[in-house]
Amino acid sequence: NLPESGTVTWKAPSNIALVKYWGKKENQIPANPSISFTLDACATTTALTYQKKENSDGFAFELHLDGKPKPDFKPKIEHFFTRVEDYLPFLKQYHFTINTSNSFPHSSGIASSASGMAALALCLMEIERQISVKMDDDFFKRKVSFLARLGSGSACRSIEGDLIQWGSHNNIQNSSDLYGVPYPYQVHSNFKNFHDTILLVHKGQKQVSSTVGHNLMHGHPYAQTRFTQAHENLDKLQSILAKGDLEGFIAIVESEALTLHAMMMTSLPYFILMKPDTLEIIHKIWDFRKETKLPICFTLDAGANVHVLYPEHIKDQAITFIQERLVMHCEQGHYICDRAGNGAKKI
Ligand code: PMV
Repeated sequence: NLPESGTVTWKAPSNIALVKYWGKKENQIPANPSISFTLDACATTTALTYQKKENSDGFAFELHLDGKPKPDFKPKIEHFFTRVEDYLPFLKQYHFTINTSNSFPHSSGIASSASGMAALALCLMEIERQISVKMDDDFFKRKVSFLARLGSGSACRSIEGDLIQWGSHNNIQNSSDLYGVPYPYQVHSNFKNFHDTILLVHKGQKQVSSTVGHNLMHGHPYAQTRFTQAHENLDKLQSILAKGDLEGFIAIVESEALTLHAMMMTSLPYFILMKPDTLEIIHKIWDFRKETKLPICFTLDAGANVHVLYPEHIKDQAITFIQERLVMHCEQGHYICDRAGNGAKKI
């Protein structure tokens, strides 16, 4: 029995990968497993209004970003609906109005696809939950993550918090290529409330879309070695996370960021996604770490912005350092203070 109409609203966060997902197979199956911190401040809020329609001929929806119509997002949503249709049979029965907004500035160089697809998947599953006779919370989260993955791979890590693993791995219980799961092993308090200050070195559109980037791993000369390395890094992280070994954590996280960029520098065509300021910041973080022995490090997405990561107990020193020595490298001095968060919320 389908409800006539209604509105559901969810807020979903972005996430930052520690071991990176780069390269995929058919149907958004990752070429290697990854792990990320779910963020807190960087999030998308989506209100989905649904109204039963006369026919069930095709998908019917409109999308507004910050109250303004966004026809250029249409193909992406259409594509997503086509992919998830088999799992959400009611899709063609409704006309949808999708009202979405991001907490972070538009075109800040921060991708909204993870939080955006997660928020939309949550809203759609909320309708599915009303139709289904019974659905427990675990099933709900797993299916949302599964659907979000079909929108944007990394979106499947944006449903829960605070450390999420995605991609099957021999030594990680319940890991799956199909959805993300909360990291199932012990995590030391050093990694609770971890901070991520995002330095906006270069705003605006990414030079290479992640779709193009993932595809560059097909036939890439170092692909297999890279995929094996991701498995090994996840193995190493297990004891690092359990023991609270910040030094070990830094070594893996920074190497993962540079490897992601190395893959792009060595693909055909090749790309350099860092800017001179990205490198300046990295060197300053290394110098500061040497000087002070404080456990502060960086990671990168597929772009020039730098995520500065540090534990809660050094937050005052880290913020002073960032403000005094790093913010000068940001476009218009812009940066975002974020931290590991607890996952999506129904509004
Ligand atoms: O979810 P996608 O297809 O936008 O890919 C994201 C890839 C990286 O952000 C570069 C790495 C990751 O694991 O999040």
